[in-house]
Amino acid sequence: MRISIVGGGYVGLVSATCFADLGHSVILIDIDEDKVDAINCGKPPIYEKCLMELLSSHVGRDLRATSDYGSLVSSDLTLICVGTPPLPDGSADLSIIESASALIGCALKEKETYHVVAVKSTVPPGTTQNLVMPTVLKHSGKNASKIGFVMNPEFLREGLAVQDFMNPDRIVIGSSNELASDTVESAYRGIDAPIVRTGLIAAEMIKYASNAFLATKISFSNEIGNVCKKLGIDVYEVMKGVGLDHRINPYFLNAGLGFGGSCFPKDVSALIHLAERMNVNPVLLRSVIEVNEQQPMKIVEILLKRVEDIKDKRIAVLGLAFKNDTDDVRESRSVLVIMALVSRGALVAAYDPKANVSMRVILPEIEYCESASQALTDADAVLVLTEWSEFGDLDKEFDLMRSRVIIDGRRVLSCKDAEGICW
Ligand code: UDX
Repeated sequence: MRISIVGGGYVGLVSATCFADLGHSVILIDIDEDKVDAINCGKPPIYEKCLMELLSSHVGRDLRATSDYGSLVSSDLTLICVGTPPLPDGSADLSIIESASALIGCALKEKETYHVVAVKSTVPPGTTQNLVMPTVLKHSGKNASKIGFVMNPEFLREGLAVQDFMNPDRIVIGSSNELASDTVESAYRGIDAPIVRTGLIAAEMIKYASNAFLATKISFSNEIGNVCKKLGIDVYEVMKGVGLDHRINPYFLNAGLGFGGSCFPKDVSALIHLAERMNVNPVLLRSVIEVNEQQPMKIVEILLKRVEDIKDKRIAVLGLAFKNDTDDVRESRSVLVIMALVSRGALVAAYDPKANVSMRVILPEIEYCESASQALTDADAVLVLTEWSEFGDLDKEFDLMRSRVIIDGRRVLSCKDAEGICW
């Protein structure tokens, strides 16, 4: 099939590369010409496992990037993968998807045959039907008999995005149009997963509810973890017993510093905003965010109990990314912890295997180290904030510290005298 993807960010680039790997010919459209050039040179502008190899095996053959929206006319299916960043009030900013829909509509004016437009961006329920559809139809001068619309959410995790694309738990196809749904379903030919066919709005809600539920599991585990800490028991032992219940399952019950990233905080806030607009009081969802905002301070409280005055003290921070295997620091809980340390006059020495550069943009005032050993040298305490597996190998490196105050926010350390944030 000939597929065009609008938006060369995380979701767009991973989807484009994977669709090419499934045997389709793919055009990736992005207005950022530097990004287009980098992609056409096989250099993905984001760090993601396996993506570089996969991209370089397809680019220039069955995958090409361009800034020319007109090129989508030669495709059968267009997937919209542009960003929907949060607005200050927590709602989703739909301006990028609106302008992309208008440009897609303009391009489709020239198209004679049937075309399908599928939304893959995370959008509030109702967006595909009430914004994307009317905008594309208006700018194309066509009606819905000529263009079909689908909502096809993604569930990709950063760091595992290629694997998640190729091995999804389900493929959700929301549409009122069978032909359009069939077109999208055939694009996933070769992937073995249950197909969920539903309506446009339900498909949008499946995405939000899935992320909100995963975030709820994490905040629940952290709250239980805080109680376990007071009881002097290990929340991981507790959650092992809890997770064996098949109705609960053991995934996303890892207590720690809380959730970050470009999805959970944004999607839960957008859902809260949507519920309020619908006059539904989102008590539970608000608490999920409240627990997540407070949790990072728990590790600071523990530190202040162990090191009374941290002014001018060297505090090593291991882990800046919002999770392992990514250089992404968006909504990383590390930011809140480091700001709390800096505001108390601490000298922060930070190390992250991938995210030093991206965090330096946000927090230029702290020291960035090339290794964990460098950060630990003469440190008065260390806080582990991201679940990088390499931190699990640290042992004699802690001997470099001035005083051995070791606090683990992500259950990655194996040394016996590490204190856990909630274990
Ligand atoms: C998430 C969803 O998993 C994915 O399906 C969706 O498409 C996009 O949002 P991502 O943001 O990449 O993916 O990260 P994820 O692996 O889900 O982790 C999110 C945050 O939760 C991280 O900060 C992680 O450290 C934290 N987390 C995760 C926990 O604190 N405990 C857990 O048990 C799992």
